[in-house]
Formats: sequence, C-alpha cells, structure tokens
Amino acid sequence: MSVSKSPAPESAATGSNKQRVLIFDTTLRDGEQCPGATMTFEEKLEVAELLDTMGVDIIEAGFPAASDGDFESVAEIARRGRNAVIAGLSRTALADIDRCGEAIKPARRGRIHTFISTSPLHMSVKLGMTPEQVLQASIDAVTRARRYTDDVEWSAEDATRTEIDFLCRIVEAAIKAGATTINLPDTVGYATPQEYQAMFETVRARVPNSDKAIFSVHCHNDLGMAVANSLAGVAGGARQIECTINGIGERAGNAALEEIVMAMRTRADVLPYETGIETPMLNRASKLVSAVTSFPVQYNKAIVGRNAFAHESGIHQHGMLKSALTYEIMTPESVGVSKTSLVMGKHSGRAAFREKLKEMGYELGENALNDAFRRFKDLADRKKIVYDEDIAALVDDEIVNAHDRIKVVALTVIAGTGGPQSAALTLEIDGEKKVTQATGNGPVDAIFNAIHALAPHEATLELYQVHAVTGGTDAQAEVSVRLAEGGQSVVGKGADPDTLVASARAYVTALNKLMVKRTRGRPEERQAV
Ligand code: KIV
Ligand code: ZN
Repeated sequence: MSVSKSPAPESAATGSNKQRVLIFDTTLRDGEQCPGATMTFEEKLEVAELLDTMGVDIIEAGFPAASDGDFESVAEIARRGRNAVIAGLSRTALADIDRCGEAIKPARRGRIHTFISTSPLHMSVKLGMTPEQVLQASIDAVTRARRYTDDVEWSAEDATRTEIDFLCRIVEAAIKAGATTINLPDTVGYATPQEYQAMFETVRARVPNSDKAIFSVHCHNDLGMAVANSLAGVAGGARQIECTINGIGERAGNAALEEIVMAMRTRADVLPYETGIETPMLNRASKLVSAVTSFPVQYNKAIVGRNAFAHESGIHQHGMLKSALTYEIMTPESVGVSKTSLVMGKHSGRAAFREKLKEMGYELGENALNDAFRRFKDLADRKKIVYDEDIAALVDDEIVNAHDRIKVVALTVIAGTGGPQSAALTLEIDGEKKVTQATGNGPVDAIFNAIHALAPHEATLELYQVHAVTGGTDAQAEVSVRLAEGGQSVVGKGADPDTLVASARAYVTALNKLMVKRTRGRPEERQAV
C-alpha cells in the first residue's frame, strides 16, 4: 500500500493564534448528497476551484467509495487543489478507507474523514452493532487512514443524541488511534445552542488527550438553528466549522458558510474569531452553487439573497440616503454585491466584457468566454439595458451547459388563440443534429413534447416555474424545470429573453442532469439518451 503523508492543518487549538477558525466546506459532499442537487464532474471542479480561491481551509470533495464518479471527482480535485486541504469522506469499512486514501493521494495536502454513528438509536437500529464494536471499528478505521495521511478526521454521527460517557470514551480512543480532528455533528438538527456548546465543553474537559485534536462542528438546519449551533460549538472550544454554500445539504440543509463567516466578521465584538475567507467572493460562490445545482436562493436569504441589500420602503430609503449605517450592518461590497448594477450595451467590446466578468468574479477560459460574449452580444441586440444580473444568468447558463450531451440549437414556436400550438425544434445530441415538430396543449407543452420525441425518456415533469431576472418587459426569463425518474429528481434552469427558449433550455438542462445522475458522471458509462 502506498503512503502519501500530509501535514495536518495548523492547529488553532494548539497553535499560536487561538481565535483562527478553520472553514471546512462540504458543499460537494453533504450539499451534493441532497435530493436534486447533482453536479457534473466539470461543475464540481468549477466549484472546488472557487472555494480554494476564496480561502476555504478544507474542501470535502466527495465520498470516493460511493461511486466511481465520486472517486474520480475527488481525485481530480485533489490533483488540482492549490491551498486547501482536500478531504474525502469514508465509512469505517477498511475497503472504503483504502478507496478514499487512493482518491486523495494526488493532493498536496489530503485528509481522510471517517465517520460512524455513536447514538444508541443509530448503533442498534441502523448499524446493528454494539458500542464496543463501534469503538473498535473507529480505532481500526483511524489507524488504517493514518497509513495514507497524517490528517485524519473522525466523526461521531448523531453525536448530539449520544450518551456523554460513551462519547468521551470513543473520542479519546479515536484521538489515541491518530485522529487529528474530532467532529461532533448535530446530524439531525436537534440540538439547541446551549446544549451544543455544553457538549463541546464537557467532552474537551473530560477527554484527557483532547488537546491533541481540533474539534469540529457540523450542524444540520432541521429546526433552523444550524448557524447558531455552529457558533455555540465554537464558543465551546471547536475551531473548525463544517458548512456549505447557500446552506444546501441533507433535508433542511447544513449551516450556511456565508452566514457564519459574515456573522464573525460583522460581530467581531462578541465573536472574536477569524477565518481566511475572502468575503467579497461570497456572492459569486452563492450564484455558482445555485446555478450548478439549480437550487434557487431564497430572495430574503441572509447575506446572498437578492433582497439582502434591497431597501424598498420609503422610510428605509430615506434613512439610507442620509447614511447607509441606518439600515445596513455590512456593506454590499463586503460580500461581493456591487452597487452599480447598470452595465454594458451592444457597443461594448470583448475586452470590456472580459473585464466586467472579472469584476463579477468570473474567470472563463477562451472558449467559454467566446461563447458567453456571443450570447451577450445577442442579448444586447434584443434588450435595451443589460444588467449585471443578466450577465450572471447568461454566464451561469454557459458554465452549466458547457459539457451537456444534449443542446438546444434552434426553436420556432407557433402560439396564439387558434391552437393546437406547435414547436419546430432542433437539438444536438452527442454531436448529431436532430429535428422534429410537435404540437401540444399550449406552446410549452408543444416544446416539451418535441424534446421528448427527440430524446425519449421516462422522467415526469414535477415543476415548471418562470421568473424575470430583472424588471421590464424585455427582461430575461429564468425558467426552472424539475424532472423525476426512479425516485430521483433534478432541477434544470435556463435563461433567455424569450421565455419559450428559456423553457426549452431548462428542460434540456434537467435532462442532461438526469443522465449524469444515472451514470454519476462517468464518461465511459454513458447510456443511450
Ligand atoms: O451529518 C452528519 O453527521 C454527517 C457526517 C457524515 C459527518 O454528514
Ligand atoms: Zn451532515
């Protein structure tokens, strides 16, 4: 077995700067695990690169034993990682640990994150194991993981419903076996902040070797307390926070990275901790994750919602004109929201467009830039004013669809009062152009029937939603389509000034995602459309 050792990240608990808190992002693992949030291989690389640039300390890139697709994306992210530690998740089964060890091998700094349930309910019902077996499995897993890296994290799944004596015993054993990070998750989002803080204080006080590891929080949001609990865990001595962009994750999600980071930054007077996150990149990260998962961001979402810095009421606007401090506790610029959203027109050149994208946090390769510029020009011809939001919708669309097997090439629709409405559609499927005509009960139905005729599938349409990216009748439409197949669902988004074209793009994006879901992103396992 090959050995690739890598140093543990600087221990905030034992190092010189006691207030540094490590940010462990699990958007690509816990986030991607939630229903509908599938990302393709390329999208995962894109998100990982942004997280690395943004200053995330540890990126949990996936669960290598879950599928070959997961293994390949963890390995590729490990290969490309620059500053962040790249972590892979693993159950305690030794074969899983070996698979994870192989996946993180290319990383400059790689971590194996192994977990097992420790609550009485999970041990008996889910695992069918006794506490002694769980303890031994943890020791064996951590010992095995240390063959691959010095940086090993051990998690007590459902820690907040675990008996405290057993939790202390097993944490001590995991540290003794070589775990350098101990994560005590609130897996089911059940704890209150006071309870969560007390758990960390008790475990750290009672476990004799607790100073040899960094303690970590990992909170789910079932009762809406994930961020509050994470901060309480830090008050209890944890120095690593596991979180996701936009708070995506299992069920109600995980603690939102942007909320945690901005809470610490804005309320440094009572939360004296610092992170390495470049906060002006938060808005961009939120948009990218929303685009690749097709999970919309709630309008009033803290920090990154589109209304987070909007002031509608007269009284608020009056105050804001006198001083932004009246109603803003942080500046929009500090999270990457630019005040001037009016941008470019049809006379803007390629260089100005590239500059604008850079300002908005996008770094596109030459091909993607050319495609985006072509679409921008097309948009500027049809729309009087092009806003930042328009450009973001268009570029996100390009990024998400760059590697699609099915692409919308042309669409002509006949609609109006005298049905049936019809759609003439050209799709490119695996490089080959296919054309058809279909009718339907309305233009959208006709388009979806045409897609079905060219790319037959069993998926059912669960949701069709339209919203305008900006104001005005020439605004771009952003359409979301949710398709379900075999108990799995995916969401596709499409943007275009023509609502019907946006609808076709959204449906086709969802279809592409379904195909990825079937194969978990393995190019060699591509199935027939
Ligand atoms: O919520 C949880 O307990 C987890 C573990 C795998 C860390 O995601
Ligand atoms: Zn979790």
